[in-house]
Amino acid sequence: MTHRQTAPETPVDFNNDNANTSTNTSFESVLRARLSRRRLLRGSVGGVGTALLGGLGLSACGGSGGESDPVTPPAAQVLGFAAVGKSLADSVSVPAGYTASVLYALGDPVLPGTSAYKNDGSDSDFEQRGGDHHDGMEWFGLGAEGQRSDSATEHGLLAINHEATTDEKLSSFFIHANGGTATLPRPAVEVDKEVALHGIAVIEVTRRKDGWGYQTDSKRNFRLTPLSPMELSGPARGSAQLVTKYAPAGTTTRGTLNNCGTGKTPWGTFLSGEENWFGYFTRAATDDAVRADQSVVALKRYGRNQGAASRHGWETGGSEDKYQRWDISQRGSSANGSDDYRHEMNGMGYIVEIDAYDKTRLPKKRTGLGRFAHESAAFGSVVVGQPLTVYMGDDSRGEYIYKFVSRTAWSAQDANAADRLAVGDKYLDAGTLYVARFHADGTGQWMELSLANPAVAGYAGYRFADAADVAIHTRLAADAAGATKMDRPEWNAVNPANGEVYFTLTNNSNRSLDPSSSQYLPDAANPRAYTDMKGEAKQNGNPNGHLVRLKEHDSGFQWDVYLFGAEAGADQGLVNISALTQDQDFSSPDGLVFSKATGICWIQTDDGAYTDVSNCMMLAAVPGRVGDGGARTLSYTRADGSQLDVLTQVGKPATPDTLKRFLVGPKGCEITGLTETPDGKTIFVNIQHPGESTKMADVADPAKYQSQWPANAGYGAGKRPRSATIVITKNDGGKVGT
Ligand code: FEO
Ligand code: CA
Ligand code: CA
Repeated sequence: MTHRQTAPETPVDFNNDNANTSTNTSFESVLRARLSRRRLLRGSVGGVGTALLGGLGLSACGGSGGESDPVTPPAAQVLGFAAVGKSLADSVSVPAGYTASVLYALGDPVLPGTSAYKNDGSDSDFEQRGGDHHDGMEWFGLGAEGQRSDSATEHGLLAINHEATTDEKLSSFFIHANGGTATLPRPAVEVDKEVALHGIAVIEVTRRKDGWGYQTDSKRNFRLTPLSPMELSGPARGSAQLVTKYAPAGTTTRGTLNNCGTGKTPWGTFLSGEENWFGYFTRAATDDAVRADQSVVALKRYGRNQGAASRHGWETGGSEDKYQRWDISQRGSSANGSDDYRHEMNGMGYIVEIDAYDKTRLPKKRTGLGRFAHESAAFGSVVVGQPLTVYMGDDSRGEYIYKFVSRTAWSAQDANAADRLAVGDKYLDAGTLYVARFHADGTGQWMELSLANPAVAGYAGYRFADAADVAIHTRLAADAAGATKMDRPEWNAVNPANGEVYFTLTNNSNRSLDPSSSQYLPDAANPRAYTDMKGEAKQNGNPNGHLVRLKEHDSGFQWDVYLFGAEAGADQGLVNISALTQDQDFSSPDGLVFSKATGICWIQTDDGAYTDVSNCMMLAAVPGRVGDGGARTLSYTRADGSQLDVLTQVGKPATPDTLKRFLVGPKGCEITGLTETPDGKTIFVNIQHPGESTKMADVADPAKYQSQWPANAGYGAGKRPRSATIVITKNDGGKVGT
């Protein structure tokens, strides 16, 4: 979701904030500087035209069964399609032999009795309609009687995150007839619409003779919004720092916000990551002095300095509580915060567990998994008698990679328990949170985030009171523990063939050979700092991103860089290190999902750096394993002639058989979220914010829209662009990607 991403050197808005000013080192690699000649590093725009190479008899990673199944041996796997070329067209491109169609878009009816979407800005009732900015998504199969079925392939529920909305100057302009109000105060009627199009939707989908559709009148459909009641669970439940006027006991909160990546538990529930929630809150310019305690330190670390403006100005919608909650200034006179919303933001930033099969159950925010800009939550290999592990990333520049390990060992009978959220209580509310530190020699350590770690207990930057304080202020504990600052950890996914964990690191404009206080030197796990040209604009740092992967062992992990994003024509020594061809080159990896049916690793992009050449895309990969390449030293020469050598670990380069572009999206979109039916024959993919660079002033003139998708693909009324879920099948009925 680097929503409205401009050239990476430009300070970007709410979606990739840089609040990590901690002084902990990136890590203790061996960095040697020596003199050399001047050289300016520069990626170049590659030429076009490379022969398509077919996949030939490749043997690689196959999938295992469901999460609770034992890992089965890898099956033979071939990427049996011709790569899709880069494209700037306002359409979805998939390989020959595949069909992609639109299933469910912004504004479509979700609750029974809702009118069709007019798509002209006059629609309301978004708490009954599809939300905006479709993101992570998971499949929940339904049996003949409408009960949970993990083997169903033609009937199920899709749980879909609606992350955010396409906005400019406060207003979500496509959903208001005249573009909405771009100044404060915001009218309540506009605020109500904008709030409601955030959150989560669950829709019932069925494969019929004529293809996939969703059931607009299903009683199983539901919506969660930033106003839906939710429980706080785990170590922070009942904390004094969660007390608000709405929830004086600190055990509940309203709603979920900026839902980005997802996960699915081995017991059949949906996990949703709250990502850039802090940007929705405002804080008075004098609030530091009013508070006069260490909450000021915490608020700053989470991107809310005093005087911070909110993204949409929702706090100005009126005097009602549902508007006032977006102002987190200390305004009341109570000592504990029960008469204002000074603690309201502490109720956001979690992994939320939802029972997609039962809309009557309150979702639970699992505070034990930490509070940060969450993306996906992926389970490591699930083994009876062993604790469960959940991997997570924090998407802001210089933030960290985390894992949670349950206190309770996995019991197979919990996979099919009737009370699924009670199983969540058992495994996700008690355990230990860790943060990753990467070493240059290819090893890494997990640093415990608890008061049992002297670095956390004795941290001078913030005095942790208890486990609740660590859960709420995870970033500060990770600073204390000495975590490695990463190039914006987005999704992670676990290879079902071997349990190795893959992370996308989307990009980072704050890597530099000549770091200032807000920039970091390249290091082993984030080894690139270069200049890429987008037209005449220089994009500095790590503009194209990379993927790291980890292999766990008893005392830590082994790691390498799986792939580096780059233009095919860029220097293969320092930029296009993975030797990507025209059929493979990509920038800013973000969404990441392994298919359990085929073993294919799907890589999705949310890019602003290479969009002069191609819209965002999705690639299919058949990865090797950690350590299949080797150590490499990247030798940089600074402008003043001095040299910087960075030792890193590089995976085996991609080949035409192991990485191919599968899809390119319409103009202005990112590709994010993917789920599949268990037979691997259908995948669902989200197209987020097509046309997001449209100017608010042009909202009445479709000819000036950056995109008219999906209307131009024949879907729905009006011409305003809409985020949407698409469904992709192979025309011969085979598994997608094979
Ligand atoms: Fe919602 Fe960092 O992507
Ligand atoms: Ca994302
Ligand atoms: Ca470029």
